[in-house]
Amino acid sequence: MRIICGKDYSDVSNQTAQFLAAQVRLKPDCVLGLATGGSPVGTYAKLVELYRQGTLDFSKARTVNLDEYVGLAPDHPQSYAYYMRTHLFDHVNLAPGSTFLPDGLARDGEAECARYDALLQSLGGTDMQLLGLGNNGHIGFNEPGDAFCLPTHRVALTESTVSANARFFASREEVPRWAYTMGIGGILSARKIVMVVTGAAKAQAVRDVFFGPVTPKVPGSVLQLHKDVILIADREALSLIPDSVVVDLSALLPFANH
Ligand code: GLP
Repeated sequence: MRIICGKDYSDVSNQTAQFLAAQVRLKPDCVLGLATGGSPVGTYAKLVELYRQGTLDFSKARTVNLDEYVGLAPDHPQSYAYYMRTHLFDHVNLAPGSTFLPDGLARDGEAECARYDALLQSLGGTDMQLLGLGNNGHIGFNEPGDAFCLPTHRVALTESTVSANARFFASREEVPRWAYTMGIGGILSARKIVMVVTGAAKAQAVRDVFFGPVTPKVPGSVLQLHKDVILIADREALSLIPDSVVVDLSALLPFANH
C-alpha cells in the first residue's frame, strides 16, 4: 500500500485523476471501477478538464460503478446513475453502452446482483478501481457486519450511512434505506485500487482501515490484503497515521499539478 498526501482537496483530486488518466492512456480499452459520493467529485472534474484539453480519450474505455440506491430511477437527481452522468459521462467521449451501474429499479434483487457479477466477470474485472471511504469504514456500500460479503448484494444501509448521505437529499427521510453494492470480492478483484479521502472526519476510518485489524467490522480493512492500493488523502484525513509512511507528492511538480 502507498499513501500519498495532497495539500488540499483540489490537489488530492488532481493527483487521483492523474492515476486514472494514466490508466486510460496506458490501456485505452481499460475497465475503470468508479465511485460516487462527495470525495471523487473533484477527481471527475479534473478528468473532464483533461479530456477537454485533448489529453485524454475515453472512447475505448468501459466503466463499472460500485453501487446504486434501491428504488431510485436513473433520472432521479440523487441516483448514482444521475451523479455519474452529471459529473463525468455527459462530458467525456465514453461510447454509448460502455458505462454500467446496478439498476436501482430492478424487480428481482437477487437476479440483479447475479447480473452485475456476471457483467463484471464478462468485462474481465476492473483494471483500476476508484474508491471513497465511508465514515464507518465502508467501501462501496459494504457496511460493517459479521462477515465480508463477496458477491454483489442488496444491503440495508446503517443509520450512520443514512445520516452521512442525508446531506445530498432534501431530508433524511428521503434517503433510501437499501442499496445494491459490488461486494468485497468484486472490489478486491481490481488489478489496482485508488482510494480518495479528505477531511478530519475520516481520520479515524483511515487509521482503522489501513492500520487496524482486518475485520468485517471495518469493511475497508480488507484492502490490506490487496497488493496494489494507493491512498490519496489530505493532511487532515491522514492526521492519525504515522508520518513515516506518507509520501508528499507536492514536491514532485509538475506531475502533481499537471
Ligand atoms: C457513499 C458511497 C461510497 C462513498 C461514501 C463516502 O456511501 N456509497 O462509495 O465512498 O459514500 O462518501 P463521501 O465521499 O461523500 O464521504
